[in-house]
Amino acid sequence: MSCVRVGLGSNSYDIVIESGAIRNAAEHLKPYIRGERLVIVTERNVADAVLPKLSAGLAGITLETITLDPGEGTKSWSQLERLCESLLNAGIERSDAIVALGGGVIGDLTGFAAAIIKRGCKFIQVPTSLLAQVDSSVGGKTAINSHAGKNLIGAFHQPVLVLIDPETLDTLPEREMRAGYAEVAKYGLIGDFDFFEWCEANAASIIAGDRGCQIKAIETSVRAKATIVEADERETLDTRALLNLGHTFGHALEAETGFSDKLLHGEAVAAGMALAFRFSARQGLCSAQDAERVSAHLRAVGLPDGLDSSGVKATGAELVQHMLHDKKMSGGTLPFILARGIGQAYVDKSVSLAEVTEFLDVEAR
Ligand code: NAD
Ligand code: GLY
Repeated sequence: MSCVRVGLGSNSYDIVIESGAIRNAAEHLKPYIRGERLVIVTERNVADAVLPKLSAGLAGITLETITLDPGEGTKSWSQLERLCESLLNAGIERSDAIVALGGGVIGDLTGFAAAIIKRGCKFIQVPTSLLAQVDSSVGGKTAINSHAGKNLIGAFHQPVLVLIDPETLDTLPEREMRAGYAEVAKYGLIGDFDFFEWCEANAASIIAGDRGCQIKAIETSVRAKATIVEADERETLDTRALLNLGHTFGHALEAETGFSDKLLHGEAVAAGMALAFRFSARQGLCSAQDAERVSAHLRAVGLPDGLDSSGVKATGAELVQHMLHDKKMSGGTLPFILARGIGQAYVDKSVSLAEVTEFLDVEAR
């Protein structure tokens, strides 16, 4: 078992990573169980794949399970209302900890419900997708989507515990594993060249299910994220914004494909990171070799590294138009995460959208 502490004063919490943690859930969750009962929020796919193991690990405790539909559509006003009413009907109290069992969809929705029910309840993240284990379960960003865009309605609300069992990844579809892997590689590309080199050597093993490699990837990722969140919990400085590497270009690709299964979030982030590095190389910020190395790695893992492999046929102007609806727009400018090399990402607020348009037009050819 390993444990990473997220130090946020009175909102500090542990991220526990243990193969078999779900089977030992009673031990880990004991401090948060009131009156021998626990409320779990999940969705159908995870209820089939993981809930029976968690229930076995919590034998003797009365579980009330709220099972929602899988998919991004669940991060909606209607499902938030349904969840809040269900939690209130279950008699949830502020001292109870609601368990979010699932990928980023369930974590984001349940975290937001926990933030607003009775002006704030405790919640525990039990992430079951690779993306959720290395990114969304840590850091307290919770949200639902609005017609105006993704994740536009939400709150910062930190969990009281993140319990990560890499064994849950055994039932995760391979495409979801690859998409989640993009967020692992992201930490190397942002600030850890050695970890990126390790990823180049071990990505295939992570995806194939090598438990040791999965644990190292998860632990390194959450340690990196914890450090960033501790430095800039509410993204008011430029530090947490670094986690958006690949997200501005990726957001345009996701918007162009209708935020659908045509291009998963992690796939868009992969292509977006390759584009960010190629744009950085074009601006003379990093070497063309570094940009090609990033693309080659993503391709080798089976992830998209540009417009064509993302299935996107759009002009630079159309893609930049999508970027302008990005929630990262601030004072009429759009900060880009660019790189001076692998492991040397930085926030650039002076990027000319005309140059981005021109670059994307060249990419589209
Ligand atoms: P998801 O929750 O939809 O899970 C992906 C798919 O895998 C779903 O079909 C789900 O049913 C299935 N699944 C999950 N765990 C499984 C398991 N163990 N076995 C079998 N199937 C399983 O999506 P995701 O990729 O986990 O997360 C994406 C969401 O996370 C997006 O809404 C995104 O906005 C959000 N996100 C939030 C943050 C944050 O900081 N809060 C960061 C990144 C992404
Ligand atoms: N996933 C980006 C963040 O947590 O800030």
